[in-house]
Amino acid sequence: MTLSPNLYRFQTAPQIVAGPGSLGQLGAHLDLAGSFRSALVVAQRSMVRQGFADEVVRQLEQKEISCSIIQDVMPEPTAGHIRELCARLSEESFDLIVGIGGGSVLDVTKLISVLRTNDRQVEEMLGIDNVERPGIPAVLIPSTAGTGSEVTPNAIVTLPEEELKIGVVSRHLLPRLVVLDPCLTMELPQAHTAATGMDAFTHAIESYISVKANPISDMFALESIRLISRNIVQVYREGSDLAAREQMLLGSMYGGMALTGSGTAAVHALAYPLGGKFNIPHGVANSMLLPHVMEFNESAVRGRLKRVAVAMGLGGSLQNAEGVIQKIKEWTVALDIPQDLRVFGVEGRNVPALAQAALKVTRLMQNNPKPMAAGDVEAVYRKLLP
Ligand SMILES: NC(=O)c1ccc[n+]([C@@H]2O[C@H](COP(=O)([O-])OP(=O)(O)OC[C@H]3O[C@@H](n4cnc5c(N)ncnc54)[C@H](O)[C@@H]3O)[C@@H](O)[C@H]2O)c1
Ligand SMILES: [Fe+2]
Repeated sequence: MTLSPNLYRFQTAPQIVAGPGSLGQLGAHLDLAGSFRSALVVAQRSMVRQGFADEVVRQLEQKEISCSIIQDVMPEPTAGHIRELCARLSEESFDLIVGIGGGSVLDVTKLISVLRTNDRQVEEMLGIDNVERPGIPAVLIPSTAGTGSEVTPNAIVTLPEEELKIGVVSRHLLPRLVVLDPCLTMELPQAHTAATGMDAFTHAIESYISVKANPISDMFALESIRLISRNIVQVYREGSDLAAREQMLLGSMYGGMALTGSGTAAVHALAYPLGGKFNIPHGVANSMLLPHVMEFNESAVRGRLKRVAVAMGLGGSLQNAEGVIQKIKEWTVALDIPQDLRVFGVEGRNVPALAQAALKVTRLMQNNPKPMAAGDVEAVYRKLLP
């Protein structure tokens, strides 16, 4: 449904239980989500290893819900992989699906949910509102901070043949229940902590400067920016800091809420071909691109970036657009984010094709506050090939 230009809309999960140890409350909160007999648990392997998937099963079995578990979801899932998983599950019956893991696991959980109830292939669901019927009720439990996928109506699919990633966007992808337990993120390795944290920050800042920004998305974006700015370097250095992990997980969820109300923009559009063609993890691609796209956008959003600077807690002389960009650059160094796309096999001759692919991500490109021509996109990629 298209909205008139001066209207805005917001949607999110109906029930969120949050805080350290909240996974232990899963069973109690499930009662409010419905009554179920059998569940499919889609678990990240690290969640199985650390015992959190067992805890989910224990909670469900206490409610007399029988469980089967899969734990071989690939990172940055392809359409082919999702098709294979669905084919393998065709004989299983379940009336609840629980995803526990990073954005890749949560997106696959959301897609399995709607693929079970809609007579369509995943390729036919790509784009906006191409899912007809509600899916199997889902519970989403993130283990990264993160994509915010637990509260977004999006699931991202990699299409290797087209060397691109595309989103399925539908209100039917929202879960019945979210459990936001920072204890699950304590063992997230340093490099993933950095990249997924920067992805969350990118959701917030892109939503705040998007042409679709509105009062509801602004509130979530600024709070996300505030929480992540104060914790991202700390959580990278001290992964065992539970309070910092909790703030990051909240910041990540608020980032998901911000992008649901508004939308991400050119950073994400330029990141998709880097994921689709060169398998660069989503958070890494975004972290590398963010400072350079912000430099391009700066002249169009100086006023907004001043408010971002305040939310980031930057002092007097840095409370401006330059201060924000400088700080983001400092983070990429402090978080050891790669600065050269050659590390991933990208060469100068790939740039025109990457730019053409990014420009095709019109859903996000059209949100960017300053229109980008092919030459502008190429110039950003070339900054990462110093
Ligand atoms: N649906 C959305 O709204 C949305 C938004 C942004 C990105 N995405 C998509 O999400 C995917 C990326 O998700 P991600 O960044 O969360 O990464 P991920 O789910 O791919 O996980 C990254 C790595 O971290 C490991 N891991 C995850 N949690 C762990 C934990 N707690 N302890 C130890 N290891 C752990 C995984 O095994 C994996 O190797 C991409 O496909 C991206 O396009 C979706
Ligand atoms: Fe993202």
